[in-house]
Amino acid sequence: MRLMTSSRQLQVRRRAIAGLRLCAATAALVAAVTLTAGVACRKATSASAVAPDTSPVRIVLGWAGDPATSQAVTWRTTAAVASPQAQIGLAAPDCGGAIGPVRNIAAVARTIDVGRNQRATHYKAGFTGLAPATRYAYRVGSASSSSRWHCFSTASAEAAPFRFIYLGDAQRGLGKRWPEVVRAAFAAAPGARFVVHAGDLLDEGYDDGQWRAWLAGLGDRAAELPGVPVPGNHDVMRSRLSRVAAAPDIWNAHFALPANGPADLPELAGQSYYLDYQGVRIVALDVNAFANEDFRESQRSKVQAAQLTWLRNVLGENPQRWTIVVQHYPMYPVAKHRDFGRMRAALGALYDKFGVNLVLQGHDHAYGRTHKVYDGRLADPEAPGTVYATSVSGSKMYAITTRWRPLMARLQQDAQLYQVVSVTGDTLSYESRAVDGTAIDAFELVKRSSSASRYVNQAPRPAGVAPQGREN
Ligand SMILES: [Fe+2]
Repeated sequence: MRLMTSSRQLQVRRRAIAGLRLCAATAALVAAVTLTAGVACRKATSASAVAPDTSPVRIVLGWAGDPATSQAVTWRTTAAVASPQAQIGLAAPDCGGAIGPVRNIAAVARTIDVGRNQRATHYKAGFTGLAPATRYAYRVGSASSSSRWHCFSTASAEAAPFRFIYLGDAQRGLGKRWPEVVRAAFAAAPGARFVVHAGDLLDEGYDDGQWRAWLAGLGDRAAELPGVPVPGNHDVMRSRLSRVAAAPDIWNAHFALPANGPADLPELAGQSYYLDYQGVRIVALDVNAFANEDFRESQRSKVQAAQLTWLRNVLGENPQRWTIVVQHYPMYPVAKHRDFGRMRAALGALYDKFGVNLVLQGHDHAYGRTHKVYDGRLADPEAPGTVYATSVSGSKMYAITTRWRPLMARLQQDAQLYQVVSVTGDTLSYESRAVDGTAIDAFELVKRSSSASRYVNQAPRPAGVAPQGREN
């Protein structure tokens, strides 16, 4: 089955719109229409009334498994289509389409309730058997309608330099102020390979309109750069009704994520997972069960136990040189009146034991980044330890607390930020910038051995402010 080409699709739409305009103009100017005009009007009216909208929208690139040999994609149509599929081939120059053989990949369809008595059908297709470090073009749709071509690159099968973007909570300002951060981040990090979203993507995770706005903020970038999202408390907010810390259907409908989370928590698939990318193990950990008290305690205990067992395995059997954890709730909060001591005790011990290098977090609607920390205290720059960062990308802001100031290299409030993390062999470089490009923070970790790295603080010191914490 062939997908309709994008140009053909555009032609059909333009003709339909032209026909509708002709109808409106004709009806306004003359009462007795000519036969020709009447026929054109009936055709356009009939087409718009009966033709279901099968155009693919909300195309989101995701993961099917090993980033070196696979990728995945999800999309939606208003009206369900028969035989949904994706097509993939080697990318032509400038992503103008595919060259050489094109494979057809059947998609799995799922119709979900999106609120307000509306339903939508989402599709998920996995691309497997790909070549590492190779650029591919793909499109999605059906016989009646297809997307334009989008492109992505598979990861190298070995450690190799790359960078990615890390964004804290979007949540508010999705229509204008958050997209400004997205544009700034992508402009600052050309060639970034994925985007980490540290939870609370939306204010209400069940709100289809907010999903539309969030994806509109990403634009076509969502179809060409996969995300690494973890759910925050706002993303699972209404789950409390079911007393299960599960993300809503609409979360998994929009995201294709590695199915390698805790095997005994199938109801939480797509919320905790990991992927290995060019020498870095990235663990996305849903910590709602540790810090979100909206859920029944017995349920939280069960999820915590399963996740800790899983986490021990994922961190303990890790052949990658670098380890980064992404979680929503911060281990060392920067917003006032917050503390997640039980979570800090449970997870901090594992991060210490298994040498996690960096933890990327959200939730506090402010910025804070620690020096290297071990066992809750400042670590020597050359000793084992973990750097914890908390950031915000949306417009909702909270005041900062001074409770953990001795650990902090940098605190900042009232600023929408993006971060770029670069990994080049033995060096992991991190920088945080405001939406206008102002440098907010930076540091480097330089590997000394498989277990130890040298921490180099590069945070700019605000004028007239005494240094906080350890300087290097
Ligand atoms: Fe949150």
